[in-house]
Amino acid sequence: MHDSAELPVPVWRDELEHEYAALAARLEPLVPCLEIPLHLPWIDAINTLKKQRGAVIMAHSYQSPEIFHGVADVTGDSLGLAQAARDCDAELIVICGVHFMAESAKILAPDKTVLIPDLDAGCSLASSITADDVRALKARHPGVPVVSYANTSAAVKAESDAICTSANAVQVVEAMGAPKVIFLPDEFLGRHVAGRTDVELVLWRGRCEVHEKFTAQQARHARETFDARIVAHPECSPEVLAEADFVGSTTAMGKWLARQQPERVALITECSMADNLRAQFPQTRFIKPCNLCPHMQRITLPNIYAALRDLRHAIEIPAEVIAGARRALDRMLEVGRREAA
Ligand code: 13P
Ligand code: SF4
Repeated sequence: MHDSAELPVPVWRDELEHEYAALAARLEPLVPCLEIPLHLPWIDAINTLKKQRGAVIMAHSYQSPEIFHGVADVTGDSLGLAQAARDCDAELIVICGVHFMAESAKILAPDKTVLIPDLDAGCSLASSITADDVRALKARHPGVPVVSYANTSAAVKAESDAICTSANAVQVVEAMGAPKVIFLPDEFLGRHVAGRTDVELVLWRGRCEVHEKFTAQQARHARETFDARIVAHPECSPEVLAEADFVGSTTAMGKWLARQQPERVALITECSMADNLRAQFPQTRFIKPCNLCPHMQRITLPNIYAALRDLRHAIEIPAEVIAGARRALDRMLEVGRREAA
């Protein structure tokens, strides 16, 4: 097994400048320009190997621009990636994101090989709760249904009645048809949902270590100094959300920008996501209170290359856990279908 540090570094060829001119132009406003010639040989090597392997690379919106724009075939939020994994023809999928996202892809596409370039790419929300914790909560609140956020391990999902994302949490909670629901593990998202439903929520004290760092003062500063509209992810604290013109999931933020086309916006969320949207909305000025997710940052071009070359690290989940987690995910997808009908 090779460590990515031992990989032979792909070398610069002059033709890369011409072959990747469009990509370089796209990356120029997003990454320091000196880095682009360092990224291109890796991007080229990954794209070549990806074709040889018949693999598909899927990148979450929080991935660095050189990954998001340079090597990803599919980009999106965590649920979108899992659904794309299920629906694509490829048998080999590389998830550039964190561990629970790769697990969600494996749950929806159990017969495919799902790789994650770094097994230690975790998530403070997913690691805040275990399947034992969920079993203990169920024992304390008998008969109360459990709705878990997508940012949980497969084992926690398997103990849940339904999964939700930040985009559909209120609908999923209400679809349980119960006066009380155990909502896990994000306390801030839970408080946001509790303000939008009559269902009583039992909350857990999980936090996103990236979104909990933002302050209401940062949001006010962006509005008062730059006259920016404020768009925040519901994993932020209630004080931050109270300052926002729009609160929405990763995907909803992109749709809001497309609809509103604001002159200036402050995205109170992970800052690679703001970079990736900046490329899509060049007419908008992005004010960036910037917090990067350290777990997302563990995915790099060299370890994506190593993942493809050595077929590592394949996600393995016991069949009974896949079955339980799949049932909970299907319950959420069913709510989505009913809403759309
Ligand atoms: P999405 O489910 O919207 O992709 O968000 C995942 C996440 O980790 C947010 O911090
Ligand atoms: Fe987890 Fe927060 Fe990173 Fe999203 S941004 S993966 S919730 S730690």
